[in-house]
Amino acid sequence: MSKKKEEELLKLVSEEEIPVHVAVIMDGNGRWAKNRGWPRIAGHKAGMDTLREIISCADEIGIKVMTFFAFSTENWKRPSWEVKYLMKLPEEYLQKELNTLMEKNVVIKAIGDLSRLPRRTLKAVNDALHNTKDNTGLVINFALNYGGRAEIVDAVRQISQKVAAGKLEPDDIDAQVLADHLYTGDIPDPDLLIRPSGELRISNFLLWQMAYTELWFTRILWPDFNREHFLRAIMDYQRRERRFGGIKK
Ligand code: IPE
Ligand code: IPE
Ligand code: MG
Repeated sequence: MSKKKEEELLKLVSEEEIPVHVAVIMDGNGRWAKNRGWPRIAGHKAGMDTLREIISCADEIGIKVMTFFAFSTENWKRPSWEVKYLMKLPEEYLQKELNTLMEKNVVIKAIGDLSRLPRRTLKAVNDALHNTKDNTGLVINFALNYGGRAEIVDAVRQISQKVAAGKLEPDDIDAQVLADHLYTGDIPDPDLLIRPSGELRISNFLLWQMAYTELWFTRILWPDFNREHFLRAIMDYQRRERRFGGIKK
């Protein structure tokens, strides 16, 4: 996108209604590579450049939290060579980007069942969480081996254990208690979900948290997704009326 066009777009983005939390399903890498006659992993690699571009744009416009779906609990079904590559990506990404992210004062977080990640991946992720924990800027939350259903099951299990141990009364269980036991903890629910690739589904992402999230779909494949698309999604979001079950103000 030309600088001029970008400035024009930026002017159209209202500063008052920037979503606090934007979640993204980074989808379409495989098709992007296939269209070029390249192996699927070339698409995953190209997707990392998009990730960098979108993070810097989100930071510039003042978004507080970005959650990126990087690997789902269902993605283990893929061929082992692809899973292996996808599991190496976080390490590669963090090695390359951590300095820049530190300069941007970014806080890295992760949600999902991290215990199943390979040892080296887990170490890279844990180091990044540790090194950025005192930063105060944009929160980048990576969903790794994440599944919305697994997350809710985990929460129910923890709550049941508390009830069994006499630490919690069944009558005291409400939506807030359940939310407190999810991986997202103190992260607010997403205001906007962006899904590239043309699929019109949420694929087990943030099931509980997306109860009132605005959904934005595009046919653009993730490696082709850029700042312009991102700003358009934000502008569309700003034109929507969120009612949360109430009526127009
Ligand atoms: C998203 O791209 C990356 C992950 C799911 C990890 P895909 O690999 O799903 O790309 P398509 O959907 O096959 O094009
Ligand atoms: C969702 O994409 C998961 C990630 C992007 C990490 P998928 O490609 O796995 O979703 P489906 O299989 O098309 O629903
Ligand atoms: Mg896909």
